[in-house]
Amino acid sequence: MTLTDTAPLHKGLDNVYVCESKICFIDGENSRLYYRGYSIEELSQKSTFEEVAYLLLNGSLPTAKNLTSFKNELLSASTPSRHLLEWVAENSRNSDPMDILRTSLSMLSITDKGSESGGQDANLTRGVHILGAAPTIVAAISRARRNLSTVPSPGLSSLAANFLVMHRGEEPDEFDTRAMDQALILHAEHDLNASTFSAIVTASTLSDMYSAVTAAVGTLKGPLHGGANEAALRFVEHVGTPANAEKEVNDTLDRGQRIMGFGHRVYKNYDPRYKILKATSKELCERKGLATMYATAEAIEKAAVARLSDHKILPNVDFFSGIVFKALGIETELFTPVFTMSRISGWAAHVLEYLSDNRLIRPKSVYTGELDRRYIPIKERGA
Ligand SMILES: CC(C)(COP(=O)(O)OP(=O)(O)OC[C@H]1O[C@@H](n2cnc3c(N)ncnc32)[C@H](O)[C@@H]1OP(=O)(O)O)[C@@H](O)C(=O)NCCC(=O)NCCS
Repeated sequence: MTLTDTAPLHKGLDNVYVCESKICFIDGENSRLYYRGYSIEELSQKSTFEEVAYLLLNGSLPTAKNLTSFKNELLSASTPSRHLLEWVAENSRNSDPMDILRTSLSMLSITDKGSESGGQDANLTRGVHILGAAPTIVAAISRARRNLSTVPSPGLSSLAANFLVMHRGEEPDEFDTRAMDQALILHAEHDLNASTFSAIVTASTLSDMYSAVTAAVGTLKGPLHGGANEAALRFVEHVGTPANAEKEVNDTLDRGQRIMGFGHRVYKNYDPRYKILKATSKELCERKGLATMYATAEAIEKAAVARLSDHKILPNVDFFSGIVFKALGIETELFTPVFTMSRISGWAAHVLEYLSDNRLIRPKSVYTGELDRRYIPIKERGA
């Protein structure tokens, strides 16, 4: 008897559709990405992260009045409990920042009495609560790791500016704020990638928003997903100068290793976010005296494209996002937590949408093991 006869096997769930969605469309062949029907190019140029987060969560761009109250909701969530921030300060020095962030976001549920009560409005409120609290937690993690005290939320209406103040301890200039805001927009949403899928798997059991986001953070942590920009930047730093790029890329590929920040399950052409981030990282690096880092990244890109483009393996969002974050003064271990701050908006949007037409997610595996094995009592199993 073969147990695989009944259904095709979709390893990695490649090309499997599990729901309908109006949130995000990726045209991987033509390098197009849309949030709720708006192109990523237009949103990243004309919008702010708060408008985009509102759009993802609610389905339409906010009016000025909607936006003010949304920003106020985010701001009121930007001061999580003193107890939580103390725990972050005490535990961040020697722990993985994503572990601290995952645990902290989960802990937010403790101060939300009735966090398990259902209803779309309650879930939306929780999503906004988590989104508003995350930058404060991420900045506190960073400062504790640098042996600096936590900076309380300064109450600025831009989440990007608020985060940069809490991270740096001083106000950013307009260019940095806009670059941060744009990076948040570009990381906010990307259809049913692994972390978003894990959020809806958790939500589909009628668990709660905190659990869904916590599951997603754990999934985003992996180097094949959110961790790729850290690995890409580390490679740029390892290569050091443009002159080393071609040899290092060829050696890496000849050893059978991957170039991080390249390749994508959905894009078989360039990732449109990469183009936008590349332009921003160039300008940022010029302003910050990091021209060599940018030139090294560009030389790696050129060498890797020469080797990989025939296989449709091209730069993805992570290749230049690490350069942007680094030029903004964000330390490498914080890249994935910063990505998380933004992606919470996409996760929450998908959870809300999925729950509006919920079906428990329960795939199957193809069993390839034995059947009817003879049970051997423990005393007879040998040493
Ligand atoms: C993202 C990723 C997992 C998607 O890949 P995928 O569609 O699942 O493709 P696979 O992992 O099956 O790889 C297919 C082939 O391309 C190669 N490949 C894929 N990405 C590669 C990369 N970045 N560098 C070199 N080779 C790569 C694989 O080695 C494999 O080659 P093989 O068929 O000779 O074994 C993959 O491209 C990758 O690991 N990229 C690096 C990590 C990264 O940047 N992640 C962020 C994604 S936004």
